[in-house]
Amino acid sequence: MATPPRRLLITGATGFLGRHVLQALRADQPETRALALCRRRADWNRQPWTAPLDHVDVIEGGVTGPEGWTGDRRLKGCAGLVHLAAVVRHSRRDPADLYETNVDGTLRMVRLAAQLGCPMVFVSTSGTVGCFESPDEKADEDAPYVERTVGGWPYYDSKIRAERKARALAAQLGVPLTLVRPPILLGPGDHRLRSTGHVLKYLRGAYPFLIEGGMSFVDVRDAAPAILRALDHPARRPVYHLNGTDCGVVAFFELCRQVCGVRPPDYVLPFAIAHRLATAAERVAHLTGRKSPLPDPVVLEMGRHYWGLASLHAERELGFRARPPRQTLADTIDWLRRNTAV
Ligand SMILES: NC(=O)c1ccc[n+]([C@@H]2O[C@H](COP(=O)([O-])OP(=O)(O)OC[C@H]3O[C@@H](n4cnc5c(N)ncnc54)[C@H](OP(=O)(O)O)[C@@H]3O)[C@@H](O)[C@H]2O)c1
Repeated sequence: MATPPRRLLITGATGFLGRHVLQALRADQPETRALALCRRRADWNRQPWTAPLDHVDVIEGGVTGPEGWTGDRRLKGCAGLVHLAAVVRHSRRDPADLYETNVDGTLRMVRLAAQLGCPMVFVSTSGTVGCFESPDEKADEDAPYVERTVGGWPYYDSKIRAERKARALAAQLGVPLTLVRPPILLGPGDHRLRSTGHVLKYLRGAYPFLIEGGMSFVDVRDAAPAILRALDHPARRPVYHLNGTDCGVVAFFELCRQVCGVRPPDYVLPFAIAHRLATAAERVAHLTGRKSPLPDPVVLEMGRHYWGLASLHAERELGFRARPPRQTLADTIDWLRRNTAV
């Protein structure tokens, strides 16, 4: 009997990173099949970018909700689990689903990896360790969690909890677990317009002001293959950082201007004033059921901090290279212009 092809389970397959991980898999390991976990098969079928991915089989299910799909016979012999699924939302309002998905859902995936007897890569975020008051600090893979800084922001708090609990559970169940921490992902193909949403807002002139603070990003096309290599490395480490470009908020939008000519807002407001305005606007929006025209207060709190990541091992062990930031921004902007009403 012929040996079945190697298979990997990929959660979050319908997202921005999922799309690029699936494309990187096809480019780098054409013999490997992907089992893409999708909450709704119809969502997968509806996306034009999924059509050429003939190395993908869809498993309908979620990391929360009914678990019947974990008994799917195609999972038998699965060589690895790449866990990307998460709720990425930067607001303090109604975070229950965010914690359920990001923490409980991750623990479920550790249990599933134990059941399948396979290694797991969990994509977390640079923000669990790399958020600071000053632009001079950087977090490497051994850096402590920065929960005192990010603990009031549900998304980062959920990722710290998920990392801690997943590590403990994986150790208990004997699952080889690797955490990969990228900063903000930019690049072409963000069909949900979430990760690159702030670039889109800038292109649309929707930011009334900027604030002083920091920004850190990496190209999704550089992150995706490195994530797959982290799963396959014969002596994979517990943590890899995929660091790209750390810069100031004002410098980031100036770089965007140099790339595409669109002028960023002239006003750089002091954080305290910007935050007061955003908090008031968010309250009004909540009461009226409308969308606030200003960034969520949490986004401003994040934006006034500095995000710095250092990587000790990803270049050497995963072949990770961050491409020049101008190229990432040019390709992001070009894709947004071609695929949205900018
Ligand atoms: N984008 C960034 O800037 C960035 C930076 C650092 C780390 N990360 C991490 O990278 C991962 C992928 O991010 P992304 O940018 O690709 O996010 P995304 O585009 O928002 O996609 C999120 C994915 O998670 C899935 N998902 C959400 N809740 C789920 C549930 N209960 N069960 C199963 N799937 C669920 C979504 O599926 P549906 O289609 O069903 O909604 C979607 O496939 C996340 O873990 C994120 O924390 C992202």
